[in-house]
Amino acid sequence: MALDLTERVRPTPTVALSSDYTEAMSMLASGVVMVTSRLDGRPWGMTISAFASVSDEPPTILVSLGSGTASASAILAAGSFGVSVLGRHHGAAARHGSTRGASKFLERFVDRHSRDSSPAIAGALAHLDCEVTEQISVADHTIFVGRVRNVRIAEGGEPLVYFRRAYRALAPCNPSFERRIPCLSS
Ligand SMILES: Cc1cc2nc3c(=O)[nH]c(=O)nc-3n(C[C@H](O)[C@H](O)[C@H](O)COP(=O)(O)O)c2cc1C
Repeated sequence: MALDLTERVRPTPTVALSSDYTEAMSMLASGVVMVTSRLDGRPWGMTISAFASVSDEPPTILVSLGSGTASASAILAAGSFGVSVLGRHHGAAARHGSTRGASKFLERFVDRHSRDSSPAIAGALAHLDCEVTEQISVADHTIFVGRVRNVRIAEGGEPLVYFRRAYRALAPCNPSFERRIPCLSS
């Protein structure tokens, strides 16, 4: 029987494309948020970067979560969720919320005094309470579209940034890049 050498030396296009895809996505610097919910009545959260503003009027956002995660199930059951925008000092919370297969209860990271309906990370740059208006199943993820019901904003603060699989902080604002709008101090 003839041996098909081409099959042996070349990875299948799907495998090559998949690793190139994740490598390509790692080149995009993004903010990091914690999607929060409740599990057995306790605060629970998952670290994600697939968060986007969809519309200002009415205020609408989306998040994309692995469909098999406990967070996706909790949001599906509750019909609501929270989004805490993480600051540069939230590395430990971000790692906690992204450890595969680990418990993601958030007691040690939440703001115990917050009046938000969803659990909020203490010191978050902003927190949004959202009600699910649509859920869309795409590949192995579920996109939750959320109507923003309440927003809380911190005074100042610097974001946590994720780039090339590492947490980073923003470089100082360079005034020479900003010809029209001066750097905002935080
Ligand atoms: C910075 C960062 C961003 C992430 N963004 C997403 C995302 O947008 N959607 C997602 O499903 N998982 C994302 N993940 C992976 C999840 O955090 C991780 O797979 C999840 O917490 C595992 O949950 P599980 O233990 O319930 O499987 C991200 C991880 C990190 C470190």
